[in-house]
Amino acid sequence: MCAKGSSLVIACVLVCVAGFQQQYFRIVPRSLRVQEGSEAVLECAVANLAGQVQWAKDGFALGFSSVIPGYPRYTMFGDRRHGVYNLRIVNASLEDDAEYQCQVGPAQMHKVIRANASLTVHIMLS
Ligand SMILES: *[C@@H]1O[C@H](CO)[C@@H](O)[C@H](O)[C@H]1NC(C)=O
Ligand SMILES: *[C@@H]1O[C@H](CO)[C@@H](O)[C@H](O)[C@H]1NC(C)=O
Repeated sequence: MCAKGSSLVIACVLVCVAGFQQQYFRIVPRSLRVQEGSEAVLECAVANLAGQVQWAKDGFALGFSSVIPGYPRYTMFGDRRHGVYNLRIVNASLEDDAEYQCQVGPAQMHKVIRANASLTVHIMLS
């Protein structure tokens, strides 16, 4: 990383001396299409995590715990020490068809970061 070139040297000095790097998405959630009744996993992973992570559904915050009150089919799971906060939805139905957002709150010098992904649920015709 600290190779030749003055901008790289400056970057190294800033990182190594200041010791600060903003939290950022290591894995950005991607929009998904699933069949009704199947499982959907929206991935979200944050590096240099400092703030609190939660998901929002159509702008409604789902909270910081892995079990989400009022949403028994939803679970936030993953290795939190590594900033992994995936959202699993089982038995997907039309009511899950929405715009989701992984939100990371502010902390000290860290800014809020947000990333959207949409979930599209296809109804199976019989
Ligand atoms: C992200 O989703 C929220 C609602 O959930 C919406 O208000 C916002 O415009 C979306 N942002 C982008 C960049 O699509
Ligand atoms: C899945 O959801 C449907 C309603 O959308 C329900 O009728 C069905 O029993 C559920 N299946 C399971 C395995 O929970």
